[in-house]
Amino acid sequence: MTRVDGAQRLIEVYRRKAAHYDLTSRLYPVPGYPQRSQRLRTVRALGLRPGATVVEVACGTGLNFPLLQDAIGPGGRLIGVDLTDAMLDRARSRVAAHGWRNVELVQAEAAEFAFPGGVDAILSTYALTQVPDCGAVVAHGAAALVRGGRWAVLDLKAPDRTPAWVRRLGVAAVGKSASLDEWIGRRPWEVIRQAMRDALADAAWEELCFGTAFLATGTGAGTGAGAGSGAGESTSR
Ligand SMILES: C[S@@+](CC[C@H](N)C(=O)[O-])C[C@H]1O[C@@H](n2cnc3c(N)ncnc32)[C@H](O)[C@@H]1O
Repeated sequence: MTRVDGAQRLIEVYRRKAAHYDLTSRLYPVPGYPQRSQRLRTVRALGLRPGATVVEVACGTGLNFPLLQDAIGPGGRLIGVDLTDAMLDRARSRVAAHGWRNVELVQAEAAEFAFPGGVDAILSTYALTQVPDCGAVVAHGAAALVRGGRWAVLDLKAPDRTPAWVRRLGVAAVGKSASLDEWIGRRPWEVIRQAMRDALADAAWEELCFGTAFLATGTGAGTGAGAGSGAGESTSR
């Protein structure tokens, strides 16, 4: 399957999900998973102030937008990027319903999105491990951050030492599929972790929900922050 086929297949999957995503995502990845509190934690990790410019990569229907708007206020700027037109249509309806005038929505493959300069914060939730070039997305975003700007990624991962019951729960939640096997084999969370160590200062990594999710954060060093400029990583579980 080519990269273009993969993107088209993903768009079709999310076109089917878009209409009910806000409801069904509450059960994601398993019923009882504290998704809202993890979203809040991720937004807090960005340290946003009123007037800030924030980019959300693979924003979907904009479930994080209310939390982001609370932090940046009407004087801020929110740019939501996503590959799937139908998910962005939902995000557009949300923006209109709230009357937000500071939101731009961009349909783009995350790795091809040209981040504007002077970004104060970037986040991606439950999406970046699906992006084939997730390491490049981290690097491109890091290069766009102002000095002291923040990058935060919240996503799912396979636990390192997976007890059989957790494996069974995971398969029951998302179904056994070639794409799940491909995702586990590719271990994109490790790519993201390394890319954040390489491109950001004070990269931090926290495992959540028995190692089935993670929150990775880091701070931009301003213009010129690139591979090898990181200052190590702090870890918590
Ligand atoms: C599980 S949804 C998460 C949406 C949102 N971030 C949230 O937290 O609710 C995954 C989203 O990632 C988007 N996506 C997946 N791969 C992408 C890519 N390569 N570039 C841009 N968006 C992508 C999908 O279109 C979908 O909207």
